Amino acid sequence: MPVTFVVSNRKGGTGKTTVSVNIAAELASLGRRVLLVDLDSQSHCAVGVGIKISKETPTVHDIFRNQDNKLSASIQKTAFDNLSLAPADPLFEHGEGARDAEVLKKALTEYEIVRNFDVVILDTPPSHDNLLLNALTAANWVVVPYMPHPLASEGARQLMRVLFKIISGSNQQLKLAGFLPMMANDNIRIHRKINNDVEHQFGALRMLPVIRNDIRLVEAFGEGKPIRHFAPKSRAAEDFAQLGVLIAKLC
Ligand SMILES: Nc1ncnc2c1ncn2[C@@H]1O[C@H](COP(=O)(O)OP(=O)(O)OP(=O)(O)O)[C@@H](O)[C@H]1O
Ligand SMILES: [Mg+2]
Repeated sequence: MPVTFVVSNRKGGTGKTTVSVNIAAELASLGRRVLLVDLDSQSHCAVGVGIKISKETPTVHDIFRNQDNKLSASIQKTAFDNLSLAPADPLFEHGEGARDAEVLKKALTEYEIVRNFDVVILDTPPSHDNLLLNALTAANWVVVPYMPHPLASEGARQLMRVLFKIISGSNQQLKLAGFLPMMANDNIRIHRKINNDVEHQFGALRMLPVIRNDIRLVEAFGEGKPIRHFAPKSRAAEDFAQLGVLIAKLC
């Protein structure tokens, strides 16, 4: 079975998609066969890996509308070695589909997925809904990116409450890979304070190394390329390479 990571925070705009796309690209560059699954109907992962989707494109959301649909039918190869995408459906309505938290977990046992992939990365919407529950039920590890802002760290705490319920109930395999400070700068007092608070509350071992503020990440998205392919010498590429090596130890 592929090792599955979910990237999540209840707060919007904390870097979930940036982290999903770039961790996927890092693991792919380390030789893992990676499937990036976009559960967020904003459909940004496709943009991040340079894939255009249309109304007719099969998507991961098809499995939530009808469980006879196959996740593997939605998978597309990207231009990057070892990296494939199951894109999101921009027309999927929040709350649509059966209230069943095991749909994705079952889909990940499809023969084509087990045979073709070593790692699955799940990008999630910033909502607490059936899609998030499906992701947390299907995953082995959770990565929580947060911006050092009071609301984003509160989003992380809210996610932890959901997480503890899942770990003590439907998915006892789920483990926290760590909190990932995005755009954090130690010279900024509020950043230091929030990062110290998160570390104090959850423990130093739960902290992943910072991804620094780098406009090249925004530009990379615009070009449809992970940072290691767009600007390999940038500081964000350096940070993601370091993070990729750490995450690779988990899969
Ligand atoms: N380290 C960084 N440096 C500079 N910009 C960044 C960094 N991380 C993320 N961004 C930018 O911040 C914005 C939000 O990031 P992203 O879309 O990854 O967040 P998200 O959590 O997926 O948002 P949503 O909740 O809407 O899905 C994007 O424009 C992204 O390019
Ligand atoms: Mg996103």
